[in-house]
Amino acid sequence: MPHDPTAYWRAPARNYRTLARLHLQHMLFQNTLRFILEKHVEQAIPTAPSSIFKVADLACGNGVWLIGLSRELADKGAVSAKLDGFDINEILFPASAFLPPSVSLENLDVLAKPLPEELIGAYDVVHGLNEPRGLRFEYIAELDQHLIKNGFENVYMSKTAKRKQDYKAWTDDILMAWEECTFLFPSKATDPQASHTRESWAENLAKAVGETEKGVALHAGAITTVVGRKPF
Ligand SMILES: C[S@@+](CC[C@H](N)C(=O)[O-])C[C@H]1O[C@@H](n2cnc3c(N)ncnc32)[C@H](O)[C@@H]1O
Repeated sequence: MPHDPTAYWRAPARNYRTLARLHLQHMLFQNTLRFILEKHVEQAIPTAPSSIFKVADLACGNGVWLIGLSRELADKGAVSAKLDGFDINEILFPASAFLPPSVSLENLDVLAKPLPEELIGAYDVVHGLNEPRGLRFEYIAELDQHLIKNGFENVYMSKTAKRKQDYKAWTDDILMAWEECTFLFPSKATDPQASHTRESWAENLAKAVGETEKGVALHAGAITTVVGRKPF
């Protein structure tokens, strides 16, 4: 069967445990970065009272980043905002009672080609929180080059080291994500020849947990932030 990279994210089993994990992850990002909008991007907030600040968050998960942004904009007394989140898995979306009026979340595969016409060029800021592809981190170090090659200007990249006191929480967050991956593998009974089965994954996970109980941390070391401006 061909590998489907979206299978994990589309899975119906994503529930309050996943949501809690994403809340924890957001708090860990905030502990590390200490900003919602990067300082160069803050300049994009319009100042005219009649303006609407339009932000899209790609792969928004439970919308926690947009909810934080809505609070931050209100605290700054900023102009009105339209904060739209897009994710492939609407099971993650909180009921509207939990969302500020400026935030709306929509089901969309953000890698779909073409994207809906009305979304192209419609936003002042487009945000995406990206996780490393599997255990390959090299492409992150080149993200600024990818933006420049694709015509972005004013490209800034920065790396913020994670706080040592957060290592355990990052570790627990990653272990929870790995546990969620178990169902992606066939059971030994269904595919005895598979190189990885549910059983072998669960066994390796138990060993990894054992290592962390001895003090081993699981985390990517630092968060890389890249911003750029697309010329009109
Ligand atoms: C690590 S979570 C990040 C969630 C959110 N950005 C946050 O900060 O908490 C990754 C998200 O990407 C979404 N996702 C994965 N592939 C996607 C795609 N092709 N289109 C839209 N969303 C996608 C998943 O459903 C998941 O919510």
